[in-house]
Amino acid sequence: MRPALIRRLSLFLFALCLLCFLRGFAAPSETRTLRDAASQSHLLVGAAVRPAQLSESAYAATLAREFNMLEPEDVLKWEVLRPDPQSFDFSQADQLVDFALRHNMKVRGHTLVWHRQIPAWLANGNYTPAELSKLLETHIKTVVAHYRGKVFAWDVVNEAFDEGNNAGKQRSTIWYDQPGIGFAAQGPAYIAQCFRWVHHADPDALLFYNEAEADEINSKSDAIYAMSQHLLRGGVPLNGIGLEMHISSLHPNISSISENIARFTALGLQVHITEMDVALPVDSSGNASLADLQSQAEIYRQIAAACLSHRGCTAIQTWGFTDKYSWIGSHSKHTQGAALLFDRNYHPKPAYDAMRIALSHAP
Ligand code: XIL
Repeated sequence: MRPALIRRLSLFLFALCLLCFLRGFAAPSETRTLRDAASQSHLLVGAAVRPAQLSESAYAATLAREFNMLEPEDVLKWEVLRPDPQSFDFSQADQLVDFALRHNMKVRGHTLVWHRQIPAWLANGNYTPAELSKLLETHIKTVVAHYRGKVFAWDVVNEAFDEGNNAGKQRSTIWYDQPGIGFAAQGPAYIAQCFRWVHHADPDALLFYNEAEADEINSKSDAIYAMSQHLLRGGVPLNGIGLEMHISSLHPNISSISENIARFTALGLQVHITEMDVALPVDSSGNASLADLQSQAEIYRQIAAACLSHRGCTAIQTWGFTDKYSWIGSHSKHTQGAALLFDRNYHPKPAYDAMRIALSHAP
């Protein structure tokens, strides 16, 4: 080959490589998945999941491709795990944990202590506080030991504060004072006990208190903030706060949410956004308007940006990922829906792009 031709050929190849290289830099967000974007910013991006759907190939493929964390939506709750006072049925939760391990995803455990989705034998058992305490201790220690080293973070206690007129007060529940596990009328003492039991069963797991409608600064989040200070002062192994972030208005107060994340992380706690969805009004076929889908995208973007702007906010999780399977439909009597990142056919929505781009531009 003539030297001039070789020179021209090398120049051409060099230009081609340069072009590929620059494209790689200029348009990363067009090619990346959510999990790629999140891992760049050391963030966990997760979804709540149901084992029955894993056999659907689009469900499993989307989950594994887009998320680096999952959380069982229902199958770690008492109702599913505890068919009777003696037995444990881990079969459904194990399927999800195995899926996560196979796809290099972390698992959040939800939830050990909640007043809802408890089995009838427990709700109607007329147990004494001493009996309930033993049942709860055994439950916590057995479940946490079963998943030791596999579940990296637990929602130890879920939704222990009340709403409406009682907002900011501890909720009256089977675990607190109906009849409770022996700490009725002693504020967060029963919550502290639960955290200690979990820590004993798995000292490496991160332990969260998870709550609804405490995303903004309000009387509920004020109460949780005060409780967190109290627990930390008492040496209780509390590592983080889960803010559920079920949004059903198109005008959430983002600066208040950001301020709330700031005050919890300033205590040295992590914040996880644990159950995000943005419910939209839908027609009888379950479709939302294009304008609302755009507003929804903007809300996802702003929440992702608010989380990323605080170093202690370490995970964003949505409550499901496809509109095909979301609790919002039945929860709102089918007046709302279309709340998640993928539509019913697993196509990414504007909210998906907004989240991915927000995660790609982490500070
Ligand atoms: C919901 C599930 O999504 C539904 O499948 C179930 O029927 C009811 O519970 N806050 C929580 C979650 O902490 O556990 C709830 O999940 C939604 C509200």
